[in-house]
Amino acid sequence: MEYRIFEAELCNTMKKKGKFKHKKIPKWILVIALVFVMLGVYVFIEPYWLVTTEYDIYNSDIPAEFDGFEVVFVSDIHHGPFFSYERVEKLRDKINEIEADIVLLGGDYVHRGPLYVPAVFEALTGLSASDGVYGVLGNHDHWDGEQATREGFAAAGITDIENMKVVITRGFASIQVAGVGDFDMGWQEYSRDEDIFSILVSHNPDYAAEITDEKPNLMLCGHTHAGQVTFFGLWAPLVPSKYWNKFRYGEIEYNDINMIVTSGVGTITPPVRFFARPEIVKITLHSGDGQ
Ligand SMILES: [Fe+2]
Repeated sequence: MEYRIFEAELCNTMKKKGKFKHKKIPKWILVIALVFVMLGVYVFIEPYWLVTTEYDIYNSDIPAEFDGFEVVFVSDIHHGPFFSYERVEKLRDKINEIEADIVLLGGDYVHRGPLYVPAVFEALTGLSASDGVYGVLGNHDHWDGEQATREGFAAAGITDIENMKVVITRGFASIQVAGVGDFDMGWQEYSRDEDIFSILVSHNPDYAAEITDEKPNLMLCGHTHAGQVTFFGLWAPLVPSKYWNKFRYGEIEYNDINMIVTSGVGTITPPVRFFARPEIVKITLHSGDGQ
């Protein structure tokens, strides 16, 4: 009892002398800390926040018969440790729900391992569109199994259009859909049939700078993941392109080519995104210049 009285008196004395000053953490530090915690959580949520981004393409080379023709373009699925088999299946179903006329795949189907290659195409089996499903390879497909990827295409009913072109017809009218090999790991051969609206799929957007005379009307690319981590969607420190942020994301006019660069669906390491949401691209073609 005596000891307790002594202890209380000591505390009072020390408080008076200011030894027990309770230092409060300023509110602004707490707010900043909270924001950082929220951002730290958010970057792991955004990769799951898939959006469908729509574009309308007007061009006088598009025949009237193709007015309203719908193209779905999907790239960089990266099935692997950060993008499960079930998510690939859900993606396939979501693409099918759009009921586009044609589905184009831009490469990089896996991340980290040849074992994922047969699996991703098993999950993509059943992907369908009235005018077919077509694809090219990306750099990761070369690293994890070029041959297995082409076999996966065949097994899943995906037509390989690398360095090839196909013609889609509506009555007497037609458009061309072509693809090229990966700019870093493959080779590229592209030619445009004269006076025909031409869509070119190239995993890497950098190929746009190499095309000299026969230019496509529309070039669809992936590879950049829109930078994955950006400064509020305006700029990214890391973009795997010689042209850096110029080819990071979106609709870009370059070298007289109308390009669409998608942010893709999956991620590579680290499995985070910030203002670079994963997306399915849906493009509607319109005959005429839109005036
Ligand atoms: Fe990729």
